[in-house]
Amino acid sequence: MKQKLVAGNWKMNGSLAANEALVQGIAQGLNAALAGQQAQVAVCVPAAYLSQVQQLTQGSAIELGAQDLSSYEQGAYTGEISAAMLQDFAVRFAIVGHSERRQYHAESDELVAVKAQRALSAGITPIVCVGETLAEREAGQTEAVVKRQLAAVIHTNGHCISEIVVAYEPVWAIGTGLTATPEQAQAVHAVLRAQLQAATSHADRVQILYGGSMNAANAAQLLSQPDIDGGLIGGAALKPADFLTIIAAAAR
Ligand code: PGA
Repeated sequence: MKQKLVAGNWKMNGSLAANEALVQGIAQGLNAALAGQQAQVAVCVPAAYLSQVQQLTQGSAIELGAQDLSSYEQGAYTGEISAAMLQDFAVRFAIVGHSERRQYHAESDELVAVKAQRALSAGITPIVCVGETLAEREAGQTEAVVKRQLAAVIHTNGHCISEIVVAYEPVWAIGTGLTATPEQAQAVHAVLRAQLQAATSHADRVQILYGGSMNAANAAQLLSQPDIDGGLIGGAALKPADFLTIIAAAAR
């Protein structure tokens, strides 16, 4: 059976001291949280701390992730970080197309698709984020929006598409304390699964994560839905006890 994936998205939070305490807290509680069962665990950290967190997670089951990468291979792109640079730090996952990047950095569906391609060709699993805004949901456009966002990635990445992770993150639920109900989330996950099924015969092995105010209290219910294969966790990933409770809910 496919393992669930619990990935922390630290966003622009942390410091050398705080990261050390956080990773140690997670590492120390991990075996107890898993209780002999299995789940994949990752932390997606600010680029400045990749080296530090690579060292902190060494020898633990916590995998390393980045929050973005460049769509370019190398060269005169000031401030950008390439897939090859992430490879140097043994990065396993890279978030692409987070709604905060789509919104504040004007990232288009096409750019996100190229970033996913860069990650895949470096052996890094892209966590492709899709999700509708509140206005889009209220206008009945949820399905059309997430399908359009995923379609761009499928179009660009064709035969590799079963190698991605998808994260459904309704924009109105991110950092707001509002969570999609398990039924609302499952309905969108089923749409995404069907879209993947039309593109690959291996759609069942793609992990589709839910993100948006997933926390210690609501994780178990969300993760019990048939097409919710894990979580992309913001705020609750900064507190070891909460993150470990979510991992325990994902373990099986
Ligand atoms: P949140 O963030 O859990 O704080 O809502 C999730 C995300 O943006 O990935």
